[in-house]
Amino acid sequence: MTERLVVAIDGPSGVGKSTVAKRLAERLDVPMLDTGAMYRAVALSVLDQGIALADEAEAIEAATTADVRLRREADGALEVTLDGCAVGERIRNPEVSEATSRLAVYPAVRTRMVHLQRQAAAEHGAVVEGRDIGTVVFPDTPHKFFLDARNDVRVERRRAQLVAAGVDTDTDAVAASIAERDARDSAREASPLRCDERYHRIDTSDRDIDAVVEEMAASVRAATHARDSDSS
Ligand code: DC
Repeated sequence: MTERLVVAIDGPSGVGKSTVAKRLAERLDVPMLDTGAMYRAVALSVLDQGIALADEAEAIEAATTADVRLRREADGALEVTLDGCAVGERIRNPEVSEATSRLAVYPAVRTRMVHLQRQAAAEHGAVVEGRDIGTVVFPDTPHKFFLDARNDVRVERRRAQLVAAGVDTDTDAVAASIAERDARDSAREASPLRCDERYHRIDTSDRDIDAVVEEMAASVRAATHARDSDSS
C-alpha cells in the first residue's frame, strides 16, 4: 500500500483545531479525524449507562467496551459512531466534556482509540486532531502542528461555542472548566498533551483562520516536496 498523508494537529481546547483541521483536510483532499469526538463518544456511553466515574473499575470497564467506531461516509468523511449511530452534538455538552477528560487518563481507554485512529489513517490518510497525535499516535509523520492561543481568546471561543449550542454559561465558569481540563490533559501520565521541537507551532490568537490553514498547507507541501526530492 502506498504511504498515506497523515497530518497531526495537537493543542489544548479552544485554539481552533477543529476548524483548521477541517479546512486543511479539504485542501489536502484527505478526511479529517476528530479524535476528541471519539473520547467524547466513549464518555457519553459511560454516562448514558448511569455509571459513576468515581467507581473506577466499572467506569473503565464501560469505557473500554463502548461500541465507538469510525465510519467512512459517502462523501469521504470519517464519522464517529456510538452503537452504530453518529454521535451528534450531545458529545459537546459540559457534562460530557468533564467526563471525557477524566476517562481519557486511563491507558486502557486510549488503546482501542489509538488502534482505530491508526487503522483509518493508514487506509485513507487524514488530518488528525487531538492531544497525542504527533507524540504517540503518529510519531513518525513529518507533518506535526501544535496550535495554541492566549487564554482569554480560548475562553471566549469556547463560551461562544457553548452559547451557539444553546448551553447557558458565563465566562468565569468556562475559564474554570478549561483550566481544570487543561491541567488534567497535560499532567496525566498516559499520552499527555506535549509540544516538542518537531512540531511547527502556531499561535492562532490574532490570526485569520485561512492564513493559518495556508501556512500549514505550505509547510506540508514543502515537507512532502523535500521528501520526494530526497528519495528520487
Ligand atoms: O478536543 P476535545 O475538546 O474534543 O477533547 C475532549 C477531551 O478528550 C479532552 O479532555 C482531551 C481528550 N483527548 C485526548 O485525551 N486525546 C485526544 N487525542 C483527543 C482528546
